[in-house]
Amino acid sequence: SLIRRSGRTIGVLVPNINNPFFSRFLRGIESEAMAHDYIPLIFGSNNNQKLESHYLFESIRRAADGMIIASAISDLSYIDNILTQNGIPYLLIDQAPVVKGDKVDVNNRLGGALLANYLIKKGHQRVVVVADENPTLNMEERLNGFLETYRKAGIPVNDDQIVKTTLTKDGGYQATNQALLQKPTAIFAINDEIAIGLYRGIHEAGLTIPDDISIVGYDDIDLAEYITPKLTTVHQPAFEMGTTAAQLIIKRIENQSEPIQRVSLPVKLVERQSVERKI
Ligand code: RIB
Repeated sequence: SLIRRSGRTIGVLVPNINNPFFSRFLRGIESEAMAHDYIPLIFGSNNNQKLESHYLFESIRRAADGMIIASAISDLSYIDNILTQNGIPYLLIDQAPVVKGDKVDVNNRLGGALLANYLIKKGHQRVVVVADENPTLNMEERLNGFLETYRKAGIPVNDDQIVKTTLTKDGGYQATNQALLQKPTAIFAINDEIAIGLYRGIHEAGLTIPDDISIVGYDDIDLAEYITPKLTTVHQPAFEMGTTAAQLIIKRIENQSEPIQRVSLPVKLVERQSVERKI
């Protein structure tokens, strides 16, 4: 018979399926899940709280064996309660704040610091950060790592130099004028999607990257190598984040008393052509 007792399904909740970072993450989950004869049920919560709980309930109703949640969670104790009551183990990653249990850690503070050090080394004294208007914990850490490094170098970045927008290409595009008003020599886009939106805005403003203004991003989505100039960014191991998350949740499904699992994955700076040295 084709029907089995356990559906061997893993519910997966991500904030935005449009973003290539999450497609790569999902491919990682898929490949690991398939290798263990599990199937992922994938949902994009669109940063919408109602959708988020709807999908959560659907996953429970459809008897998911476990959940991977990468989207921001509005009410963690509520989610903990329903999943625990239903005996469904879950793993929080990326935008979901991890307070207890299994964890796949990707050091955002370090990623932010790597970019700041790089820009400082290249002589950029006047920077703007284009950040998330509703920052999740991982984004806050990324931003703080960046700001702290600048502060320690004696170059404080004040509030006017932080422009808030959505984590999308359009968000970056819309933020361009406000960012340029600050007359930065470099902009840190908190993700690559924002950086791509800024590329368009900056081009339309008649400026050239990196001659007039330098840009760095975060994630290293595949597009980063296909835009001109190629984007300098921090590589997040999105695929490995997916395979590791799937590995941990499958172990947890198959052995609930497995000790807490913590895996830390590296980030690295990928230097391309979007930053010019200032003298
Ligand atoms: O680009 C999507 C961003 O949201 C990534 O940087 C990822 O870390 C998530 O927080």
